[in-house]
Amino acid sequence: MTDFATPAFATFIKELRTHFARGLPEQEQWEGVRDLLKPLCADEALREISRGWEAKKGREYILHHDPDHDFFVGALVRLPNHIAGVHDHGPTWTIYGVLDGHEITHVYDRLDDGGKPGYAEIKLSHKYDAPTGHVDMVPPHVPHAEWGNSNRSVAITVRTTKPGSYDQVMYDPGTGRTGTSRGLELVPLAV
Ligand SMILES: [Fe+2]
Repeated sequence: MTDFATPAFATFIKELRTHFARGLPEQEQWEGVRDLLKPLCADEALREISRGWEAKKGREYILHHDPDHDFFVGALVRLPNHIAGVHDHGPTWTIYGVLDGHEITHVYDRLDDGGKPGYAEIKLSHKYDAPTGHVDMVPPHVPHAEWGNSNRSVAITVRTTKPGSYDQVMYDPGTGRTGTSRGLELVPLAV
């Protein structure tokens, strides 16, 4: 469970487990996770190891799924010119850190009241650079899209729980149509 070959990752999981055991209020809990993910995304040894991870669209690596606190740690390896569709993470929180490469994050506002099934009016509210080391906090139900801005990028995610057990909304900003997804293909990866 805490048997990891990469020292910075082993420390990260140990610290996360201690942090989650405190049972802090939601906002404070996830701000704490963000602060713990920053040094991990600055770790040169982990960055070097991540350069050997295969990039494949639609895949998320499982690095850890916590048996006591249920949080999930994953990795996304982006292909060149990766463009994600606009989506949310349903009811879960995500802390998203760029370990390698450079991405651009788009965040949208939801303008309608959600009363019409299969429809959402959204508008780009801001767009910003997410270079190596950048860590974002993505609260539940916030529409967003991560785009690659380098040949390859690697992101580390910390989520409330393992993806696949809850609906995520996919948004079409042009037509307003929405659909649901159960997330990406999950592949275990030893780190
Ligand atoms: Fe996302």
